[in-house]
Amino acid sequence: MEKNTRLILALDVLDSDEAIRISKAVAGHVDAIKVGYPLVLASGLQIIEKLVKYAPIIADFKVADIPNTNRLICEQVFDAGADAVIVQGFTGHDSLEACVELARERKKDIFVVTEMSHPGALDLMQEAGKAIAKMAADQCASGVVAPATRPERVKQIRRIIGEELAIISPGVGAQGGSASDAIMAGTDWVIVGRSLYQSADPAGAAAGIVREIKKVIKDS
Ligand code: C5P
Repeated sequence: MEKNTRLILALDVLDSDEAIRISKAVAGHVDAIKVGYPLVLASGLQIIEKLVKYAPIIADFKVADIPNTNRLICEQVFDAGADAVIVQGFTGHDSLEACVELARERKKDIFVVTEMSHPGALDLMQEAGKAIAKMAADQCASGVVAPATRPERVKQIRRIIGEELAIISPGVGAQGGSASDAIMAGTDWVIVGRSLYQSADPAGAAAGIVREIKKVIKDS
């Protein structure tokens, strides 16, 4: 994934025509499009090959199974044309290794969830977040998912993983996080969903976030 605008669209719409319309509108403003269960369950895995012409596709399936099943899932997703898969880290080193090994064979990316961006992530997930980040670094995953809603956690996770791995951060806009705070904390890409796909002007909204990101980088 090329680091250009540093913006990723989270495309959680249910209709494939709407997904294509929004992807076309934001193409050029985003470095990748993240699709997950809502869109894929509603319109089928083949939506990936329809969207890949607008931007690389990150499949957010938060894969969390035994190693063999993880590998089978990632194979299907890469075969469908995705460039990256988001997987859970809490299932342990062998489950993660199965995904990372396959991604290496296919020259694709795996991003590991450290902790999620919503309030409930504090109940159980946060406690394991730093250990998961270390595991992702030890396994040489492409990067981790860390919450833009908690920039201080992004900073801590950056210290653990070093500069080799990327951080992608959801939670900007609808969940209250700010793109500039996340970038200043060490995020490589911010992930934005509702603030873009529910906008009357997704391209304008995306351009606005990209301007904010470029300004904070220039001023820092
Ligand atoms: O609409 P919004 O901008 O809140 O969308 C955030 C996206 O990021 C959703 O697709 C959500 O599933 C995803 N996500 C998240 N927290 C994580 C991982 C993924 O919010 N840790």
